[in-house]
Amino acid sequence: MKSIYLTGFMGSGKTTIGKQLSSKLHLPVMDTDEEISRKEGLSVRTLFEKYGEDYFRSLETSILKTIPKEDMIVTTGGGMVVREENRKWMLQNGIVFYLQCEFDKLWSRLEKDETRPLVLNQQKEAVKKIYISRQELYKEGSIVIHTTNQSVDEVVDEIVSRVKK
Ligand code: S3P
Repeated sequence: MKSIYLTGFMGSGKTTIGKQLSSKLHLPVMDTDEEISRKEGLSVRTLFEKYGEDYFRSLETSILKTIPKEDMIVTTGGGMVVREENRKWMLQNGIVFYLQCEFDKLWSRLEKDETRPLVLNQQKEAVKKIYISRQELYKEGSIVIHTTNQSVDEVVDEIVSRVKK
C-alpha cells in the first residue's frame, strides 16, 4: 500500500491520530519533525531560532524524500504543505489526508505552547492569518477529514474506511 501522509495545522492531532492509525493498520509511523530533530540533534524550536524558517523548510523537504513511499504512516509538520515541491511529492507518492479543524479549537490547544516557534509569543490573530493562508494548500488534492467535532477514534475510523475503499 502507498504510504499515508497526515497533514494539518499545528494542534490538529496529527501525531496522536498517526499513532492510533499505525496500530489499527499495523503499519509503522514516522513524524517528520521528530526525524529532523533526531538527525540534526536539535529541537525544531532551536533550528528555527538558530537557522531560520527557510532552512527548516529545506530540512523538511529532504526528510520527506527519505521516508519510504510504501506501507508507512507519515505525520508531517504543519508547514509541510507550504512548499509546492512537498505537496506534489506527497500526492504523487501516497494518500494525503488533511485533518481540518476550526481555528478556535486549535488555538485553545496552542496558545500556551512553547515548543512551536510560529506560535511562541504570537497573538491569536497573527497565527490565524497563517491558518487562513494555508487552507487551500492543505486542501489541494487531499482527502479532507473534518475533525472539529469528532473524537480521535472517530477520525481514525474514518481514515481507515477511506483507505480501504
Ligand atoms: C510548523 C509546525 C510544527 C513544526 C514547526 C513549524 C508550521 O509541526 O514543524 O514548528 O509551520 O506549521 P506541528 O504541526 O506538528 O506542530
